[in-house]
Amino acid sequence: MQHSEAGGMKILTVVGARPNFMKVAPIIAAVDKHNGRLVAGSPDRAGSQAETIRHILVHTGQHYDELMSGSFFNDLNLPKPDIHLGVGSGSHAAQTAEIMRKFEEVLIAEKPDVVVVVGDVNSTIACALVAAKISFDSDGSRPVIAHVEAGLRSFDRSMPEEVNRILTDHVSDLLFVTEESGLQNLRNEGVSADKIHFVGNTMIDSLLHFKEKAEASTILEKLALAREAGKNGGANSGSRYALLTLHRPSNVDNRDVFRNIIAGLEELATDCPIVFPVHPRTRQRIREFGFEFNLGGSAKKQNGNAPGSGNWRDGILLTDPLGYLDFLCLMKHAALVVTDSGGIQEETTILGIPCVTVRENTERPVTIERGTNTIAGTKSDAIRDAIRRQLGRNKDSGVPKNWDGRAGARIIDILVRSHYEKASYRPSLVPNAVPHEVRSSCS
Ligand code: UD1
Repeated sequence: MQHSEAGGMKILTVVGARPNFMKVAPIIAAVDKHNGRLVAGSPDRAGSQAETIRHILVHTGQHYDELMSGSFFNDLNLPKPDIHLGVGSGSHAAQTAEIMRKFEEVLIAEKPDVVVVVGDVNSTIACALVAAKISFDSDGSRPVIAHVEAGLRSFDRSMPEEVNRILTDHVSDLLFVTEESGLQNLRNEGVSADKIHFVGNTMIDSLLHFKEKAEASTILEKLALAREAGKNGGANSGSRYALLTLHRPSNVDNRDVFRNIIAGLEELATDCPIVFPVHPRTRQRIREFGFEFNLGGSAKKQNGNAPGSGNWRDGILLTDPLGYLDFLCLMKHAALVVTDSGGIQEETTILGIPCVTVRENTERPVTIERGTNTIAGTKSDAIRDAIRRQLGRNKDSGVPKNWDGRAGARIIDILVRSHYEKASYRPSLVPNAVPHEVRSSCS
């Protein structure tokens, strides 16, 4: 039974947490483009029988603050979610279970042809797992599950995200991969080759699309920072600066680990001020641990208490979480980025900004191969050495394969083709029905 009631394929896309929003924006833009082409009567790349795609955006509410969620919808021109599950925070089990319970009701009501999940957050695995086990009719039909950013592996199962990645990949029918390592990891795990498509990186699609717009951000002027990366005072005579983000429980929930990381930044802080947009979890720990951030401070020397700059504390400036465009602008002009985020390792690769990752591993090895990123671990000395090395390195990095701004379009092409190919020879929603030719023509 072809289960769309009327019209073309129905795609339901899930977002939940901050790093999801920039990954879905290019997919939604590609849906709009596909539909626009059909309305204009131009032939569609995916085949003459293509119809308008019906798209539903579901927000689980895993992140709910304006600064962690709302502002991203404005910055990325995302449509308002059609359905908001309002799940909020909780333990991993409570949060995942609540998303599953509410998402099941949505699937039963909407009966989409495809569920798209992105990345590795709890919302990703929760919704993929529901879609894998749902049954729309007596034939046991269910939606095709498409995982965007599949195949990444840190090989560290103590990371909740690693568990989410592995499980999501193994219940998905279409695996959209961002880098070569993803292809290899999935092959090694025995995933059938016809499910895997090396489409590129939708987060990088967003970065390339919004890079120029981010230049209009006034965040650098507000913080009296230089607009030219790596220079001691750019045209606006602000300060050269570094950018810091930390939010992994393994880094910030343990007082000693957190303190070691901060101690590893002391030398950097005497060289240039460090801007630190603080995640809510990290903010809470800073309060609990009574940290003061006396790093020794160039910020005071160079900026004084820069007007409008908030609370500079001797070389480090703590700010609220920033919106997408402000953060992109800060990243683009930073002399160096220190982070424990996954996505920022990739964004700095494309921007050619040196990045020091304060983790023991990365699931994104292409960022290391390109030389923009280095893994420092969390010991003070190693962090200090990695910062010295990265500040001294040659900035020419090169672009990873398929990080060309077209990943969203490739994904929609593949979904459209697989939907109509499947309907023509095997009219059911049962998975694993994506013909091999689809893979070879699109990957
Ligand atoms: C989640 C993802 C992580 C991602 C990160 C980006 C999982 C397992 N982790 O981690 O991969 O890198 O998002 O931020 O899915 N909070 C707020 N406001 C919000 C959201 C959260 O105050 O809008 C606070 C709450 O106290 C909450 C804590 O932050 O308990 C952590 O939020 P949670 O969604 O559990 O995980 P993250 O640490 O944000």
